[in-house]
Amino acid sequence: MDNKTFFDRKFIFLSGKGGVGKTTTSSSIALGLSKLGHKTLLISTDPSHSIGHIFEQPIGYKEKRIMDNLYGIEIDVRAESKRYIDGVLEQARQTLSPIILEEVRDQIELAYHSPGAEELALFDVISRFFTMEERYDNFVFDTAPSGYTLRLLSLPKALNNWINRLIKTRINAMKVEYYATRNPDKKLKEKLEEDPVLKILNKRKAQFEQARQILLDNKKALFMFVLNPERLPIEITRDSISELEQNKIKIEALVINKISTDNSKRSLKEKEYIAQIEKEFAPRRIFKVPLLEEEVHGIESIEKIAKVLFNGGL
Ligand SMILES: Nc1ncnc2c1ncn2[C@@H]1O[C@H](COP(=O)(O)OP(=O)(O)O)[C@@H](O)[C@H]1O
Ligand SMILES: [Mg+2]
Repeated sequence: MDNKTFFDRKFIFLSGKGGVGKTTTSSSIALGLSKLGHKTLLISTDPSHSIGHIFEQPIGYKEKRIMDNLYGIEIDVRAESKRYIDGVLEQARQTLSPIILEEVRDQIELAYHSPGAEELALFDVISRFFTMEERYDNFVFDTAPSGYTLRLLSLPKALNNWINRLIKTRINAMKVEYYATRNPDKKLKEKLEEDPVLKILNKRKAQFEQARQILLDNKKALFMFVLNPERLPIEITRDSISELEQNKIKIEALVINKISTDNSKRSLKEKEYIAQIEKEFAPRRIFKVPLLEEEVHGIESIEKIAKVLFNGGL
């Protein structure tokens, strides 16, 4: 399979620790796909909002056209999550009494603040794109699932237990309230069906399940790791990959980024690490990206890297 075909996956995720080149690589892949005529959305969830910097234009929380076939969006996960909670509470405010509202607020906050609020909010953001598949040919996620989110996704049982527990807690609370009410206006069953909190929890449960299906489908999803030719990143990558793969999420490719091109002592050492990576992580696809002389800024550097990744075939 050539590289163009390899990258043509609906959802592409790049993982790796900070500073290795995830933003650079995801921007390059997105640019490459757009040049092949694919309508591509590059999604950054990095709070430092670096894709605007790379493409030298402001990109906000709404999808923005960067150039032909290439669109970008920068999402502030924390703000999104707050917006979402506020929206839900507003909805609840219209249908519930103030006392119950307080309790509902606690439960919604609980749903959003455990375990790993940030990761869950990030997950919400990601899974929202899973429901708009037809709008773009490819979605490229920069700084997408942090290791923790991936782990969360790869543990459907724990997630399921957790959300089921929240659902149970809510049902119990509603039962207690129902039986304490003298002349309830509706049957309990009806109340449960209409409850906004249960609606949300059930929606989240369905979302988790759908996301899991997509992530496990390697015709749709591609996971890649970015690393540099150094000792420590190799170890981190090894651990992350084995953990994810135990949970059936396949890491199909590695990008070794910032490879020195001179003949320094450092370069010799890097060659050893590269050989080690190629051997250890075979048969995964390995992309080798040189350390550019200039700072990555502006479209030219991204174009160079895209050429390397797509085999000079753009
Ligand atoms: N191949 C490369 N050549 C030169 N500089 C690079 C290369 N890849 C990344 N950089 C630089 O390294 C820094 C970190 O890259 P970035 O893509 O932001 O990493 P991450 O998103 O993983 O934190 C940036 O300043 C970027 O310009
Ligand atoms: Mg980044």
